[in-house]
Amino acid sequence: MRRLAIVLAAGQGKRMKSKLYKVLHPVCGKPMVSHVLDAVKKASCERSVVIVGHGAEAVKAHLGDAAEYVLQAEQLGTGHAVLQTKALLGDLDGVTLVVCGDTPLVTAETLEALAALHAQEGASASILTADLEEPTGYGRIIRGQNGEVVGIVEQKDCTPEQARIQEINTGTYCFDNRKLFEALSQVTNQNAQGEYYLTDVIGILQKQSLRISAYKSKDPAEAIGVNDRIALGEAERLMRGRIARAHQAGGVTLIDAANTYIEADVTIGEDTVIYPGTVLKGRTSIGSDCVIGPNSELKDTSVGNGTTIRQSVTDEAELGEGCSVGPFAYLRPGTKLAARVKIGDFVEVKNATVGEGSKIPHLSYVGDATVGSGVNIGCGAITANYDGYNKSRTEIGDNAFVGSNVNLIAPVTVGEGAYVVAGSTITQNVGANDVAIARERQVNKQGYAEKLRARARAQKNKNQ
Ligand code: UD1
Ligand code: CA
Repeated sequence: MRRLAIVLAAGQGKRMKSKLYKVLHPVCGKPMVSHVLDAVKKASCERSVVIVGHGAEAVKAHLGDAAEYVLQAEQLGTGHAVLQTKALLGDLDGVTLVVCGDTPLVTAETLEALAALHAQEGASASILTADLEEPTGYGRIIRGQNGEVVGIVEQKDCTPEQARIQEINTGTYCFDNRKLFEALSQVTNQNAQGEYYLTDVIGILQKQSLRISAYKSKDPAEAIGVNDRIALGEAERLMRGRIARAHQAGGVTLIDAANTYIEADVTIGEDTVIYPGTVLKGRTSIGSDCVIGPNSELKDTSVGNGTTIRQSVTDEAELGEGCSVGPFAYLRPGTKLAARVKIGDFVEVKNATVGEGSKIPHLSYVGDATVGSGVNIGCGAITANYDGYNKSRTEIGDNAFVGSNVNLIAPVTVGEGAYVVAGSTITQNVGANDVAIARERQVNKQGYAEKLRARARAQKNKNQ
């Protein structure tokens, strides 16, 4: 049977008190509506239609061609929102999943289970429900004498007695597509909020003696509908726990999962150990047998197998296998480390490639550079890549040795196997296997220290 999906994402989300449209608020680094759309796609829906309104352009720009879009120009309620797809979907046979764009924790597995129950019971509509300790704010599931679902009542329309019901509507449904659109045309806005409620479809179908099923979610976390920042924080916490468990199940050790922040699309290989205070963001992918943290932030970074990163920050960097980074290193966009590179303490690298086995162990800045393999860059050596107007490149050949406190004034080249003597300021290219020295020659004045002290003493006495 054809399976369709409608995602409701046209509301402004006033209760968020935000310039950002509600469904674009990220949960674990990914907008809520993307979480929902990913779940829907994973549940093998043939077509996914997102209803957009507030922030339509921003939502479309974010989701791109992952969905079809229908505009709800005025937000007159969830029923009105679904009705906007009538021209597109109304004539199709099949089942339609309807999911709110603000329920980021709903999973593909649960959508599958809901659709399976719907088919098995020959239902016209099936609701994903949950039992909540604190049901305030959600629509309540009204059941008849035999436990059958007879309707949904919104919080604002509840009698005091109905308000005590703890089974809630998660806002996720499975409908017979044709029945959905037939019932929608009968929905009115005669209620406390003056809105066309999608939830009224349930009562309408029930009155036609059609079967309504309910699938109670095994994990109440899936029910969370994010209407304000308090719920957003709760969704973040629950999603974080879910992500952590998935990595643990995949063979990753989290020393303190509650203090490890892994965004939704991060991948980590087996036997990698993550220490507390680590934040893994965006499209970061980490290989196996790595040690990351404590207190490290990696964004859009790829890390090869067996690499160690301690107390460091990386952004759009590529690290090869067996590298060692930190403590206190900063790898900025365009950093590419080959295998077994060592980047030590207080080293910053930007827009630079570093070849296999090279070492930059302490207190260096390497920017806009190509560093060959087997290179050693001494403590405090830097590339001077910027003249206030232009960025220039530094090239360092394989097996070159750059001494401590060297300034490489770009553009400049240090040839293969060359040796740059400590303390040099290099402004001219150094040939392969040359030794470059660019500093004042040392002068030792024998026994002069006593003379110097005598002079200083005399000066002090004169001043007193
Ligand atoms: C809705 C349900 C409620 C359920 C809860 C679950 C209705 C009437 N109520 O309430 O039973 O317990 O979700 O979280 O459906 N939207 C539109 N167009 C509109 C209005 C809303 O696209 O005109 C979208 C919103 O962007 C949001 C979703 O629909 O993503 C739900 O709307 P919201 O206003 O948050 O509904 P709730 O009051 O939470
Ligand atoms: Ca909501």
